[in-house]
Amino acid sequence: MDGTEAAARKGIETLKTGGGALAAALEATVVLEDDPRFNAGTGANIRLDGRTVQMDAAVMDGSTGDFGAVAALEGVKNPARVALKVMESPHLLLAGEGAQRFARVMGFPPYDPICPENRARFERLKQLLAEADRGNSELEAWTGYDWRKAWNFPRPLKEALVELLGHPDTVGAVARDAQGRYAAAISTGGTSITFYGRVGDVPIFGAGIYAGPRGAVACTGHGEEIIKRLVAKSVYDDLARGLHPQKAVDRALRNVPPSVGMGIIAVGDLGDGAGCNLDGPRKGSYRGTQRMAWSLAR
Ligand code: GLY
Repeated sequence: MDGTEAAARKGIETLKTGGGALAAALEATVVLEDDPRFNAGTGANIRLDGRTVQMDAAVMDGSTGDFGAVAALEGVKNPARVALKVMESPHLLLAGEGAQRFARVMGFPPYDPICPENRARFERLKQLLAEADRGNSELEAWTGYDWRKAWNFPRPLKEALVELLGHPDTVGAVARDAQGRYAAAISTGGTSITFYGRVGDVPIFGAGIYAGPRGAVACTGHGEEIIKRLVAKSVYDDLARGLHPQKAVDRALRNVPPSVGMGIIAVGDLGDGAGCNLDGPRKGSYRGTQRMAWSLAR
């Protein structure tokens, strides 16, 4: 998608103008946060009440092991930039109101990430969820019946939602700079159906993001499953063992069932890798960002 191309260009420009891997990954991620088509920053998913947007973001510098994250953060434009400020503090993760107050102290002004794109996505979701409960003549028999639990189409409910809502995935970038340092940045508005206060994989150390001296990894998809599998750290461990990033990504995705949507990008000493366990436009949607940044740095 052209959004990831623009992010990759920004990452490369940052490297070319003397920025390191961390700056490149962050600036690429900010481009995606500012693109309302993506589920991060402006355009982040609106939660079930129709007005709340809570965002998670993280950054990790592989050369130092430094990590910073925010969770359920409201009212800022670029959560990934706030995550960087957390990284520069003695803490690893700030959440909710505390994260927002920290952002204000750091100079981030109030910002409303709701825009026509995420509003339209929310309206489609609401329509789908309400349809069966509305009790009009056509759907009366379905009133009060939990059709989601009884979903029996060959295609899982989650996949159907993805088609209905577009592909509002988490965004992120991984980078390697000319000094061979690695970094990753990642940002999200959470899953499509999300309660107040829910936190996914993005700000969890080693779950949605990891970087070290041998590479960097970022994930997208079903956060709860990514946390349970500590996906980013497990892919990184494979890189550190000398596996090619593409092989490491494929290995991590091999055992993930299609009902659990997941995508991974990785960069390491031997090159880069990207993959997704679903077919369609999500497959490899991050590839541009990651590959271009890596090859330039070589
Ligand atoms: N992967 C994003 C989330 O589940 O929140």
